[in-house]
Amino acid sequence: MTAAAADRLPRIIQGGMGVGVSGWRLASAVARTGQLGVVSGSLLDTVLVRRLQDGDPGGHVRRAAAHCPIPGVADDVLRRWYRAGGRAPGASYRLLSMYRQHVSDARQRVTVLANFVEVWLAREGHDNPVGINLLTKVQMPNLASLYGAMLAGVGYVIMGAGIPREIPGVLDALAEHRPARLRFDVDGLARDEEQWLDFDPAAHWPQRVVPDALARPRFLAVVSATSLATTLARKSTGRVDGFVVEGPTAGGHNAPPRGELRLDERGQPLYGDRDAVDLAKIRELGLPFWLAGGVGSASGLRRALDAGAIGVQVGTLFAYAEESGIEPSLRERVRDAVVRGEATLRTDPRASPTGYPFKIVELPGDADRAARRTRVCDLGYLRVAVRLADGRTVYRCSAEPVDDYVAKGGDAADAEGRRCLCNGLSATIGLAQSRDASDTGSGAELPLVTSGDDLLALAGLFAARPAYTAADVVEMLVS
Ligand SMILES: Cc1cc2nc3c(=O)[nH]c(=O)nc-3n(C[C@H](O)[C@H](O)[C@H](O)COP(=O)(O)O)c2cc1C
Repeated sequence: MTAAAADRLPRIIQGGMGVGVSGWRLASAVARTGQLGVVSGSLLDTVLVRRLQDGDPGGHVRRAAAHCPIPGVADDVLRRWYRAGGRAPGASYRLLSMYRQHVSDARQRVTVLANFVEVWLAREGHDNPVGINLLTKVQMPNLASLYGAMLAGVGYVIMGAGIPREIPGVLDALAEHRPARLRFDVDGLARDEEQWLDFDPAAHWPQRVVPDALARPRFLAVVSATSLATTLARKSTGRVDGFVVEGPTAGGHNAPPRGELRLDERGQPLYGDRDAVDLAKIRELGLPFWLAGGVGSASGLRRALDAGAIGVQVGTLFAYAEESGIEPSLRERVRDAVVRGEATLRTDPRASPTGYPFKIVELPGDADRAARRTRVCDLGYLRVAVRLADGRTVYRCSAEPVDDYVAKGGDAADAEGRRCLCNGLSATIGLAQSRDASDTGSGAELPLVTSGDDLLALAGLFAARPAYTAADVVEMLVS
């Protein structure tokens, strides 16, 4: 890469943080500083319909939706989901149908619109690029999500949590409004059988007349192993533009350690030398890369630059900025608990139904409350498809009610210790589903907060600066 090309790349990527922690407000604030703001694409369709049911405070969703270029989509979605004045107190949110391999065009369009709206709002009022982060493993909405984000002119697509080998080719196809497909992971398929997730952009345009080609966003893969970066650089279906090299101290999901799983005395996965990424090998691939995980400081950025990286991807520090999507009183509670030394952070190998270790911030009393929650699965983004011996395909999640999971051929032992990330993470951004108090102890789904290992080290900063903005974070990093 030439020095001039490297110069055009951001030093700082504000990492995608689902669900809605890196919403459009945060991504916009970062992008305005000239660094890369990234919206999370996870569960955005649910986020959209909940914001609409809450009366769309500020009118942001409706303002953005009015710009969706596919005729009629915004009107249809608003007619179905917008409630002027919001929900009655205590009323439950109405739910979208859960994703499956095949869903209706109308259902896909809710996802297209949701991703369009988030990227459009993050881009409003400035000319800098904005990215979107999606999880490879949350497969079913991904094609519609990418198309919606691209219709809004997303500049970067950043994906980890799996092997996003097929995504570069998908971006090439969607940019030209051509049909795109992803191999659909179905457990228990016969060796010679393939299943696909298909998305045809033309199906959403009147008379299948599509507009001019869209810009093809840059594609960055989040990797935690040298071998994965090499595979992606060599064997993807199209151009990979760079890597985010993420270590196990990063917030959110982490890659599991290599080899047999060993736990420390607090039940957290133990990482060792084999898990370290060989940055010399990454450099040899000749593509730009950013380091992520525990590098959210000026010295972290310097370390990354010294290692030959273009810069850093930072999450945790931005998650507690004023523009973050974490519901303000909850953000305050976590910050106070960190300052008082009452917050703990645990890398839980069992909590996430994805099977990846997931970092959870625990405040006093949280664990008991979480244990009392009655299981329910009504968002279903982490469901996986399974072909049973009798030929039926079922969709199941190891955090759903255990009896349901077992009835679908699941092993009860797999369900142990799982947390409902869909409902918990939605609650974290103030979009908690209302429930019977006897099911949750509180009448609403309980929030689930994730952060990187660095969170506890932020006590000094939180004490010194009761509030800081995304621009302050950028300033701290580049100072
Ligand atoms: C609240 C939170 C949510 C996150 N969610 C995602 C996500 O949805 N997808 C993803 O690829 N990374 C996610 N991450 C990881 C960040 O994008 C970033 O790589 C990481 O936070 C960097 O490490 P740091 O937390 O030490 O700064 C999340 C991190 C946090 C703190």
